[in-house]
Amino acid sequence: MRTPKIIEFELTTSCNYSCIHCYCNAGRISKNELSTNEVKKVIKDLHELGVQIIDLIGGEPLIRSDIFEIVSFGKSIGAQLMINTNGSLATKEVVKKLKNINPNLLIGVSIDGHKKEIHEFVRGAGTFEKTMKGLKNFLEYGFDTTILHVINKHNYKYFEEMVLFAKELGVSLYVDRFVPVGRGEQFKDILIPTKEMIEYINKIIEKYKNQVRFFVEENIEGGECTAGKTHASILVDGTVVPCGHFRYDSQYYMGNIREKPFKEIWDSFNPDILMVGCNGCKLFDKCKGGCRAFAHKLGLTYDPIFCEEEINV
Ligand SMILES: C[S@@+](CC[C@H](N)C(=O)[O-])C[C@H]1O[C@@H](n2cnc3c(N)ncnc32)[C@H](O)[C@@H]1O
Ligand code: SF4
Ligand code: SF4
Repeated sequence: MRTPKIIEFELTTSCNYSCIHCYCNAGRISKNELSTNEVKKVIKDLHELGVQIIDLIGGEPLIRSDIFEIVSFGKSIGAQLMINTNGSLATKEVVKKLKNINPNLLIGVSIDGHKKEIHEFVRGAGTFEKTMKGLKNFLEYGFDTTILHVINKHNYKYFEEMVLFAKELGVSLYVDRFVPVGRGEQFKDILIPTKEMIEYINKIIEKYKNQVRFFVEENIEGGECTAGKTHASILVDGTVVPCGHFRYDSQYYMGNIREKPFKEIWDSFNPDILMVGCNGCKLFDKCKGGCRAFAHKLGLTYDPIFCEEEINV
């Protein structure tokens, strides 16, 4: 029996940043954004289903005027919420309020380089300082905080410095890989990392694994893709997709929580459809199929970063 463990919940596409890699092309608010009551109902349903982490993402979730009400609701029913943020709106006042209403809230702050130039290559001029201020506020108020770091062709070479930066700050480091969807698609030539780059990232993770708490996405460490198996994303209009990166292809839409309860949507989805090209492959145990969204977006059945078939045909 498949059970959902981590569900990303996109509260808005509104954002005060315009990062070049952004998979949801964030900026403007969407007309179909879920209301406060719809958001609360989804959080309740997910919690009752036993979802371990409900990850509030966007766009920028701290832009929503009802964010405190949402976070407070999560606490009142005992759900484990997380907020992924660019950090820029996390003033001391905001962070203090979040701490008062939900002290166990998990925080992820996106930082794409340990230095201004590297971070701002993706996130835009003037973003590094604002993000760092936000991160420090979360740490000052004692939140369990993780740096969310997306590996791309430009920042990979500074990864060791990035790890030492996280170590110095005493925060966990989530390592993810750029997937060319949304605005990121326009910048794929300068952002998609190569196989060698990902191998280098894994070497550095191995070197520091006892010094820093890492959370490593399957698309980096080569584990089996969790999309639709233990993980899914709810998009801004309530559409459920096996992973946020599948948003641009309606053939992978699982359903919409405005029409059916999440459980029904989850139970009626078969994640095997994401493995087309890998089902039955004799090398699957070694390769695990890589990032299915990446393969699909490139019009391939395999992820060239992990696929062994390519070199064995
Ligand atoms: C879309 S953002 C929303 C939350 C918040 N605005 C932020 O930047 O953290 C969630 C996470 O997705 C990452 N992300 C955005 N576009 C991506 C892409 N094309 N490939 C991989 N990760 C991406 C961001 O860097 C961020 O860590
Ligand atoms: S990655 Fe986050 S901060 Fe950057 S544009 Fe997208 S939603 Fe905004
Ligand atoms: S599609 Fe890629 S990013 Fe999404 S869960 Fe699978 S490996 Fe991870």
